[in-house]
Amino acid sequence: MAATTKYPEPKENDDILLRLREDYGQAVMDLFGTDQGTKEIRPVLEVAGYTSNFLDNMRLPVHRWFRYSAGFSAEWVKWLLAERNDRELRVLDPFVGSGTTCLACDEMGISSHGIEAHPFVYRVAMTKLSYATDPERFLTKAENAFQFAKTATAQTTRYPEIIQKCYSTETLSHLDCFRQAVEVEQDGTPEASLLWMALVSSLRTVSEAGTAPWQYVLPGRRKTVPPSPEVTLRRSVQMIAADIHFMARRAKPLAKLRVDDARKCATVPNGWATLVITSPPYANNYDYADATRLEMAFMGEIRGWGDLQETVRKHLVRACSQHVPPKSVDLDAVLESPELSPIRDEIIPVCHKLSSVRLERGGKKTYNNMVACYFLDMAQTWQSLRRVCAPQSEVCFVIGDSAPYGIYVPVIEWFGKLAQAAGFESWTFEKLRDRNNKWKNRKHRVPLCEGHLWVRG
Ligand SMILES: C[S@@+](CC[C@H](N)C(=O)[O-])C[C@H]1O[C@@H](n2cnc3c(N)ncnc32)[C@H](O)[C@@H]1O
Repeated sequence: MAATTKYPEPKENDDILLRLREDYGQAVMDLFGTDQGTKEIRPVLEVAGYTSNFLDNMRLPVHRWFRYSAGFSAEWVKWLLAERNDRELRVLDPFVGSGTTCLACDEMGISSHGIEAHPFVYRVAMTKLSYATDPERFLTKAENAFQFAKTATAQTTRYPEIIQKCYSTETLSHLDCFRQAVEVEQDGTPEASLLWMALVSSLRTVSEAGTAPWQYVLPGRRKTVPPSPEVTLRRSVQMIAADIHFMARRAKPLAKLRVDDARKCATVPNGWATLVITSPPYANNYDYADATRLEMAFMGEIRGWGDLQETVRKHLVRACSQHVPPKSVDLDAVLESPELSPIRDEIIPVCHKLSSVRLERGGKKTYNNMVACYFLDMAQTWQSLRRVCAPQSEVCFVIGDSAPYGIYVPVIEWFGKLAQAAGFESWTFEKLRDRNNKWKNRKHRVPLCEGHLWVRG
């Protein structure tokens, strides 16, 4: 058993915050010559709570451009890296999402490789990693876009239903003119990507419909007073300019990001990684494809929910029931896969129980298929990680267990067994918090937890 890792105390976080606030203030002064009128774009550098997310990414420059279910804080990643500063590190995040791990590695001057299979989220992460761009050139490009948008003719009828439900005609006209401007400005430069980001990061803010901050769109709910698109877009441009100016002074663009599949890690050389830091999808029915439906529909990449399977979901680990409808999976064949042999005796009864329980439930969700396919996908991921990790490397998964329809799935233990079967030596688990222990909104009463699974060898 490895020694338990200690996590930073609040006092140390206060030092980090003080430094961040000072550095950010200086970056704003350098860029705009004054800090007057820039209050709205300053990140709220205050600690939200002392967990693995001890400084919420939405409070951090660059990280805050796109709200995503990140799994952990960049400051926690930096802390892990600092703790290992006595050895050469090459960090891999096979589920890099919006790029938290790679950005944190850049800030620490450490090489990293990020893999993401969701094409839209990959583009977001790539754009966040374009921080080493001249902010003045970006501001000039943005100003050109604002001028173009003033004279453009809006084409609001081209948008699909979800977009019509999320915006008033006036707001949509404004957004569409800016979108046309963003398209005109696309010339393959990082500044053009940053302009795309300014638009994308404004879409939820200005929606009149409920856009749950971290996940799906709720067109049935209305916001009372959404901010004006003009003000929001300008603020977003200013925020991005100040953030890249801040980040470029403290980070080195070392990260490599690839569209790839964690189950294969095809873009990572054998034995490359010495440390893996990641938060994989949980077996909890969260649909990463649906999480970007608003943005993808607005940008014309999908017409609606039905297109998500082909454009996004089919590339991802099967962690939601929408991914595994009844006739699409031969459950017995999946359970017989050789990759599942280390946990076969345990997973078969769980899946069979789910097969019968689902028939008694209104939604009849295919959690039986989901659990089997999820562990097959993750078993393949563990095998690929073994191939790309150097001997005596460390792997940290931020992960939680789950209980679909109240049937407990021991995710942590099964991951430990799959990792060992793939060739790693040992595993330990550090619990960070209990989940599902509040009475409100509970679908079942099985106690769950979340924490760090450390695999070594
Ligand atoms: C919990 S999120 C990780 C978030 C990340 N830590 C961040 O900073 O945004 C899991 C990510 O895994 C991605 N994913 C799912 N299946 C994948 C696969 N087969 N290969 C690579 N990425 C995948 C999802 O699209 C999602 O972005």
